[in-house]
Amino acid sequence: MENTSQPLEALEEWEDFLKARYPEPANGQPFQPVNPAKKKEEFRNYEADARPTVREFYRLNHRHQTYEFGQAKRKEYLSRNRRQMSIWEALEYLNTLVDDSDPDTNLTQLEHLVQTAEQIRRDGHPRWFILTGLIHDLGKILCLWGEPQWAVVGDTFPVGCAWSDKIVFHKFFEDNADRNEPKYQTRLGLYQEGAGLDSVQMSWGHDEYLYQVTKDYLPPEALYMSRYHSFYPAHRDGEYDYLMNNQDRKMFDWVRAFNPYDLYTKSHERPNMKELKPFYDELISEYFPATMKW
Ligand SMILES: [Fe+2]
Repeated sequence: MENTSQPLEALEEWEDFLKARYPEPANGQPFQPVNPAKKKEEFRNYEADARPTVREFYRLNHRHQTYEFGQAKRKEYLSRNRRQMSIWEALEYLNTLVDDSDPDTNLTQLEHLVQTAEQIRRDGHPRWFILTGLIHDLGKILCLWGEPQWAVVGDTFPVGCAWSDKIVFHKFFEDNADRNEPKYQTRLGLYQEGAGLDSVQMSWGHDEYLYQVTKDYLPPEALYMSRYHSFYPAHRDGEYDYLMNNQDRKMFDWVRAFNPYDLYTKSHERPNMKELKPFYDELISEYFPATMKW
């Protein structure tokens, strides 16, 4: 490992790990609580089979994603005074992120996003759904501002309350400073039962950042999909229901509907950007102003 704060060779290594862990899409099926004993067994296997780079990535993520860290990053980024860019300019900016490119397909970040959006389009979903496919990973531009991988990607989880034991590599939370704060270690922690996820601080990363940038412009379904698309402990494992309100539960159907496109649409087929650009220009201008604060 060349740079120990950036263990992943490419961000996609984390996504490949997710695919190994969740080999089947969960959409279309109502959530089924799984035999907890079996679940534990599976976790052990994923963890044992993870590449050392992925393991190290989770070690850093679970160690450093504290409540305080999330507060500091919100303060740092949510004034959004770094750049003014259109959505398309932000996509092109993200495309300058060359993290050894994708080891599997050699597609760029932008090509991946267009691929995701195109699959959503082919399946006949609404225009805001297609648009969400296009932009959902735009928050990865945080990497271009010097943020380490563990502060940009990774399964997200609530901070300021107890960590679900279904979060992968749970044992790495032993090194998290919040471990020593009793007020963060109870089931509800800083929150109220059923008060809703909007009152809950999630671990910091590309999901929350993009939500904050786009929240004035997209319908709630789209905002839930981008804000919680990495919240695997909830949308795949059914955890943290006690923090949710009924609106969250309803909207998580959309988060689950989005997950197959996020995780399983990669192909080697390079999208024809020249041909597709007019469609996406129009779609973007339908929802977003010409310039946005980042
Ligand atoms: Fe993502």
